[in-house]
Amino acid sequence: MEQTFIMIKPDGVKRNLIGDIVSRFEHKGFRLIDAKLLNVSRETAELHYCDLREKPFFGELVAFIISGPVFAMVWEGEHAVKNARALIGATNPVEASAGTIRGDYALDVSSNIIHGSDSLENADREIGLFFKGQAAFSY
Ligand code: TYD
Repeated sequence: MEQTFIMIKPDGVKRNLIGDIVSRFEHKGFRLIDAKLLNVSRETAELHYCDLREKPFFGELVAFIISGPVFAMVWEGEHAVKNARALIGATNPVEASAGTIRGDYALDVSSNIIHGSDSLENADREIGLFFKGQAAFSY
């Protein structure tokens, strides 16, 4: 059974979308393993997005992620990484289908509501970064 790391970004938290987004993951059939509201440090944001450090938008992306609290979660399910990416929708909301989270709630790529790991390897890395091997719930 796979686990994936999902994070509601500061825009999603400010717009009170936590409940709706958690509900979508529950209704899809995922199991919530861990969750917390937190302020991300600059160091953690830079490590989280280290694959993108050469991109021109990296500075703005890090500034955005540390601009307010995020809601970090670990969800478990069959093909969790790919199934979660399908719920989330395309990176750019212009290309995200209606019915996906970004398709329904976002207009612009720079504030696209939610992050979901893009590979199993990154899911393990991101869960380790945000949850530091704390005991996760099992039920
Ligand atoms: P990326 O990892 O490519 O997408 P995803 O979040 O779908 O895995 O990019 C990370 C974040 O960087 C993306 O969610 C929003 C931001 N971003 C920009 O601000 N501008 C851009 O042109 C791109 C591609 C991403």
